[in-house]
Amino acid sequence: MNAHDSEKVVGTLLAQGYSQVAAPEQADLVFYNTCSIRDKAEQKVFSRLQQFKKESGKGKTFAVLGCVAQQEGERIFEKAPHVSLVCGSASYAKLPQLLVQLDSGGRRVTGLDLDAEQAFETSLTRRGNPHRAYITIIEGCDKSCAYCVVPFTRGPERSRACESVLREAAELAAAGYTEIQLLGQNVNSYRDPSPAGWDFATLLDRVGRVPGIRRVRFTTSHPRDFVREIVDAIDANPVLCNHVHLPVQSGSTRILESMRRLYTREQYMNRIAWIKAARRPIAITTDIIVGFPGETEQDFEQTLALLDEVGYDSIFSFKYSPRPNTPALQLRDQVQEEDKSRRLSILQEKQRQIQIRLNEQELGKVEECLVEGFNRATGQWIGRTSRNKTLNFLYPGGAEDLAGKYVLARVTRAGPNSLAGEYVN
Ligand code: 5AD
Ligand code: SF4
Repeated sequence: MNAHDSEKVVGTLLAQGYSQVAAPEQADLVFYNTCSIRDKAEQKVFSRLQQFKKESGKGKTFAVLGCVAQQEGERIFEKAPHVSLVCGSASYAKLPQLLVQLDSGGRRVTGLDLDAEQAFETSLTRRGNPHRAYITIIEGCDKSCAYCVVPFTRGPERSRACESVLREAAELAAAGYTEIQLLGQNVNSYRDPSPAGWDFATLLDRVGRVPGIRRVRFTTSHPRDFVREIVDAIDANPVLCNHVHLPVQSGSTRILESMRRLYTREQYMNRIAWIKAARRPIAITTDIIVGFPGETEQDFEQTLALLDEVGYDSIFSFKYSPRPNTPALQLRDQVQEEDKSRRLSILQEKQRQIQIRLNEQELGKVEECLVEGFNRATGQWIGRTSRNKTLNFLYPGGAEDLAGKYVLARVTRAGPNSLAGEYVN
């Protein structure tokens, strides 16, 4: 989502007459788009700001965007006095205005309003990848998970009108894009604000019918709002990729309750059952937090057992990181750092074994891949399957550029994180 926000910001600035440089050292104006989901990401912003200023920051103007900007606001000017502009994602539409203020002698300008009615929609997005395009369909989040800063940094949910999403998808198809990834902090709580009033499953289905679009993905789904119609839509149209990212966070209902996730383990498993009952095999991935306050060894065991029960194709896993303003700060029984680290490595090792086992089942299968690029070191093309697996393959056809093409490849080797194979004519 941040990567796509950056694409929109770049497009907005280009339209103002700015030009983009190849390396930060060459810039007069340097933007940092930031993440504050965990403390480590936030600390990185400040250390990079300091380091860059010291090494090659002379005469440059610095701006901080994104969730750290929103969360820290004017405190950023104290922590990093060389920064002149601070702007959160809900105020990006105001960036041109803020830059004019800077140009006309303003020393410190901010865009920190969170009550933006509108999503940051722009026709000026400068996309980095010529084949796969992101489209934001909903911004912000109305949930209040006890550990999460997002509702504070990205504000309340704002959905985009369905016609606007479909128009952008059609324009992208006309410009040669074949894959679309629908984005939202909580993509499946999409609710069309126009009179059509579409829900997420309807929008997904319709984007999947835009001529020229061959693949549609979406992220991130909240289990509470994940309805069976989403699986039905995927089942009915092969353009909708066979992949659902459904963050569970914990396998223990007790911890889920204390996280305020609004579902039990059983309810989550019901959703998994719908996905597994689909006619096409759908890959399932998730996010997991270990060491949430009060998490006992038994709670953690339940998370481990859940990995086996679901059989995730991959996971993102994190140690709980206390965040400013969040309700979880008030919870007692914080888990010791060493216990968090131990649980994280046990979890990741278990998942590694699961991925080895699942990927071995892919051997011999022929998969359609969107070719993402070429790896000079290995001489292999890098493909991605509908189920979001990386399939590196050898191509005997010589110097032809396959990037952006759809090809078939047979899986001949399987590792924990990727597959390897050969081109099938
Ligand atoms: N600590 C650790 N992980 C977090 N996430 C969100 N907030 C925190 C936090 N405070 C994780 C969740 C979410 C993913 C994007 O980041 O797993 O799904
Ligand atoms: Fe954060 Fe929960 Fe909203 Fe996801 S659903 S962004 S974890 S508050």
